[in-house]
Amino acid sequence: MLKTGEQVARHLQEYFLDHAEIFPIAVQWGLNFASHRSAAARAVALAVRRNTTRMAQRFIAGATPAEALTAIRKLRRQSLAFTLDLLGEATLSEEEAATYQRRYLDLLAALATASRNWEPVELIDTDQAGPIPRVNVSLKLTALYSQFDAIDPERGAARVKERLRPLFRAATEVGAFVTIDMEQYRYKDLTLRVFKEILEEDEFQAWPQAGIVLQAYLRETEQDLRDLLTWVKARGTPIGVRLVRGAYWDYETVIARQHDWPVPVFHRKWETDINFERLVTILLEQYQLLRPAIATHNIRSIAYALAASQRLGLPERAVEFQMLYGMGDAIKAALVQLGQRLRVYAPFGELIPGMGYLVRRLLENTSNDSFLRQSFVEHAAVDELLQSPEEERLHDSGALAGDQPPSHEVFHNEPELDFAQEENRRRFQDALTSVCQQLGRTYPLMMNGEAIFTKAEIVSRNPSHPDEIVGRVARAGVAEAERSVSTAWHALPTWRATPAAARADYLFRAAAAMRDRRVELAAWEVREAGKPWREADADVCEAIDYLIYYGREMLRLAPARQLDDLAGEVNAYVYQPRGVAVVIAPWNFPLAILTGMTSAALVAGNTVIMKPAEQTSVIAAKLMEIFSSIGLPAGALSYLPGLGEEVGEHLVTHPRTNLIAFTGSLAVGLHINALVAQTVEGQRGIKKVIAELGGKNAIIVDDDADLDEAVLGTVASAFGYAGQKCSACSRVIVLEQVYELFLRRLVVAIRSLRIGPAEDPGTFVPPLIDDEARQKVRHSITVAKGEGRVVLQIQEPREGYFVGPVIVADVSPQAVIAQEEIFGPVLAVLKARSFDEALEIALGTPYALTGGLYSRSPAHIERARQDLRVGNLYINRKITGALVGRQPFGGLGLSGIGAKAGGSDYLLQFMEPRVITENTLRRGFAPRNDGDTRQ
Ligand code: FDA
Repeated sequence: MLKTGEQVARHLQEYFLDHAEIFPIAVQWGLNFASHRSAAARAVALAVRRNTTRMAQRFIAGATPAEALTAIRKLRRQSLAFTLDLLGEATLSEEEAATYQRRYLDLLAALATASRNWEPVELIDTDQAGPIPRVNVSLKLTALYSQFDAIDPERGAARVKERLRPLFRAATEVGAFVTIDMEQYRYKDLTLRVFKEILEEDEFQAWPQAGIVLQAYLRETEQDLRDLLTWVKARGTPIGVRLVRGAYWDYETVIARQHDWPVPVFHRKWETDINFERLVTILLEQYQLLRPAIATHNIRSIAYALAASQRLGLPERAVEFQMLYGMGDAIKAALVQLGQRLRVYAPFGELIPGMGYLVRRLLENTSNDSFLRQSFVEHAAVDELLQSPEEERLHDSGALAGDQPPSHEVFHNEPELDFAQEENRRRFQDALTSVCQQLGRTYPLMMNGEAIFTKAEIVSRNPSHPDEIVGRVARAGVAEAERSVSTAWHALPTWRATPAAARADYLFRAAAAMRDRRVELAAWEVREAGKPWREADADVCEAIDYLIYYGREMLRLAPARQLDDLAGEVNAYVYQPRGVAVVIAPWNFPLAILTGMTSAALVAGNTVIMKPAEQTSVIAAKLMEIFSSIGLPAGALSYLPGLGEEVGEHLVTHPRTNLIAFTGSLAVGLHINALVAQTVEGQRGIKKVIAELGGKNAIIVDDDADLDEAVLGTVASAFGYAGQKCSACSRVIVLEQVYELFLRRLVVAIRSLRIGPAEDPGTFVPPLIDDEARQKVRHSITVAKGEGRVVLQIQEPREGYFVGPVIVADVSPQAVIAQEEIFGPVLAVLKARSFDEALEIALGTPYALTGGLYSRSPAHIERARQDLRVGNLYINRKITGALVGRQPFGGLGLSGIGAKAGGSDYLLQFMEPRVITENTLRRGFAPRNDGDTRQ
């Protein structure tokens, strides 16, 4: 939020000092020679602010309803109809959604009153069938419900319809037309569903003044249009359809590529253009039912629509054209002259919240594919501008980057499920139902291929419904632990001698088996770990990633390295496994972390004893099933569920174990470290500990941060999976200039989150893992209440181990709540007077796992890169959700001992290097060195 001239000047200097030559001389002087506090710099800032406002005024029809009304009157004087759109911040809370709805209601009332005094303009106030509404608004459904998410369509549709009904009612009362804008692809199906369902209700069934937008750049739109037509015929009342190309092309392409999902938009502009024309034809053929509005600035498309309507013999004014405020004004004038009905989409609202809209328009005006740029900036010839997209198809030679299938040479993360697809939601729901039928079974521990049942059991419960027993798992004691070490010890020579490529192949086969069972495994996580759908799915993907990544890493590291090229001597650098590895895993990433540590140890040639967390022993049993199913040699891996203090301790101190891979709390990690430091009798080496421990992670919110993004990122980082991630944000440090505003938006955003059982697809905050965890977090909350201002404490559901989210503001950096790890949904908010102070606070704990910064200042971002020394630093995004290979994960300070999981140094910790030197000189004869001694 750049409020003062000084702030603007500082940003100008940071962004443009190296490119000052693009500015006029006076401005260069202001940037170069003046401090951002000087009068000269402030004058430059003022000029820039003025220009930005002027630019915004070109595309935005005013900041207030009064200004918008003035703009409308001006439009009508030019025989241009309008549709008004209210710009706003992203709707992060129900409070904001309610405000948005109220503003629309006020707007409809104000427009209705004002419209009584408007002079009639026949060209725009009537169509082929008679008078049409003069008042026309456009709105976005995501603004009406803060949790609008395709993963939970039932709740999403119900809540949006609740807010939409009063708006439609008001529109019917004042005789207005309402169009539902189309937003990102992930909202499309839900938007169409809401539109159809509400218009089927008795109250609106015969109301013809509602419309929807369809985007020609989407491959699915033709089918959507045909479905819509069938539905309109059944409903019996016409609707309006605004056809656009689509405003989020870059976004859709980037997001799909990032997730490895099919790209929903056409890759090439001419494909969109051909589709646009195809859809125009369908719309015009059905103009009485679909009342077409052709929304484009592209004269080829406009000409096509005009010609098609003539060819089809449509009456005059049956087709409406629509264009954006401030764009293509010359084309607007020409259409009016031709006697065409033209409506201008006029957004209004404050500049800063409207920035997203403004950026989309600027992108459009500057894109190489933009019609307006080609016609008005590049002055392309008319023939070229009117050229058929079919012609372009003929001349298009090259394939685009997006056309190629992903290469198998490079590592790709397993794509997460796209829950906007109904098929994926159905598969997931089916898996949950199927898992439900398998609850309560008994699972043995596994050793040397033998299933062993014990008298003692671990009873695993569903944290959302503690009465539900997920499974009963054999509980190993010291005797079984002893046997597991002996098994691992005896299996070691054979497993170690298995070629690295064969070991890697076991991992690839395990990955394939896991992929086959991915929704089932995720469903077990929902039941046993209380993970909401997306989190559960992501955990399974991460587990698959580890298998593939470490398999590939082993192939990379396995060949012996020749150290030099001297005749007569061969020096080979090789790795060997450390021996018997003990894997002690946590419950919060029950499959991913267990799989990661186990597969790394195995592929490096160690035999492994896998001790999962008690709370998620059933998921671990599933992992063991997978390894058994692919024929992993029996002794290479043992599954030893049991209590940490009993079997864990025995394994750690056993003279025949060589390596401990642990992920968990600081206290246990330090205890293990202290234990292994003492050599016991019979021990033949110094044990290696690899430990991922806790964090007290902070996000800094700078005074210029995009608060929409900062609030969303903090909510996701602090309250996703109820804060039970070592990477979770537990401190947010906010610069004082934006402190109160950020806090206010954060509180209402969290109040709007859904707290509920993990199996409910809309749940954001699930229960804690067990009662012990709940008691600990409750104790921390009691302490926190004495250390700050509790600005939010949400009531928790009765059933399940829930703790409602808590926010404590005005916390001192030294307070217990700002220093000690809390594994739960509790967030401390701290105020910083300067960026330096914010950094100091962030670094003021002994942990250094993850950290984040929301800022638009290049200088501050650079400072954070240098000085915010945490294991994983995230800039302008959430601080959880590291991906294997892309964000190798692990901390510094007291947050861990060891190199990053999912990174290129990780496997080395599970091996030790050896050097083999051979003198190859035989009586004066030195053979060539080409020995490639594979391990
Ligand atoms: P032009 O012919 O210049 O086309 C530009 C468009 O082509 C891009 O916006 C993109 O869709 C597409 N494109 C660009 N590069 C491409 C490539 N390589 N491959 C394939 N396609 C490519 N948008 C929206 O998403 N939802 C909405 O609700 C609305 N509402 C709306 C109302 C009104 C009245 C108008 C005029 C426009 C909208 N829009 C919209 C915006 C619209 O989708 C579009 O972004 C602009 O109108 C620009 O497209 P033109 O057809 O005018 O120009």
